Amino acid sequence: MTVHRLRDPEEVAQRASAAIAEAARAAIARRGRFTILLAGGDTPRRTYERLAADGSLDWSKVEFFLGDERPVPPEDPDSNYRMVRIALFDPLRIDPRRVHRIPAERGDPVAVALACEQELARVTGAAIGGPAPRLDLALQGMGADGHTASLFPHTKALAESRRWFAANDVPALSATRITATFPLLERARAVFFVVTGEAKAAALADVLEGTWNPDLFPSQRLRASARVEWFVDAAAASRLREL
Ligand code: 6PG
Repeated sequence: MTVHRLRDPEEVAQRASAAIAEAARAAIARRGRFTILLAGGDTPRRTYERLAADGSLDWSKVEFFLGDERPVPPEDPDSNYRMVRIALFDPLRIDPRRVHRIPAERGDPVAVALACEQELARVTGAAIGGPAPRLDLALQGMGADGHTASLFPHTKALAESRRWFAANDVPALSATRITATFPLLERARAVFFVVTGEAKAAALADVLEGTWNPDLFPSQRLRASARVEWFVDAAAASRLREL
């Protein structure tokens, strides 16, 4: 695990976007394509905008998946897909066939989660029911309660051990979210977190340095991933032990 302690949200976006581009180039050179799971929320928006300015990448070799979605249509202001479309896909004129969003507007969340799994299997060739495909990169955010994707504390999807996507009831939001699961996230070749702001300082300290309790701090589950890198600003890192 690597923790990059950076000055502010802009430096987090600059460093995270550079690291993503580097991972993309390496994957394309090695395997002919780059598969990435994208975070929603607000924090990664600036990273996507900076990535969109990176003309050195062959974007036609990138497959984009969304890590979670709110129960809204794709053009709703709350839609994670809409945020990424405006910040990354539209500026780069990404071929829609390479964007594998979560069709949350279709209604039945369980059916939507299954459709996401089938799409992932179609694109990666992985067999449903078997081990999750190894995505090249999972880009994650973290909430002030230590959740990541829509894997919130004390929710059912935390215990999912087979499915790659799940419909997760989140009482704290009185909503059902569609989310990538830990079987998928833990198989990723690399996991990058982008975390900024004082509001996340307590949870970040608990996740990185606290007692093991992933039911309370779900992001802890990825703490031991093969290659996990945290891009955090000084405000978010303000409660971490001195280096
Ligand atoms: C979502 C996200 C979620 C997000 C955290 C942090 O749909 O909300 O995917 O996991 O990463 O909630 O959100 P912010 O970046 O907005 O603080």
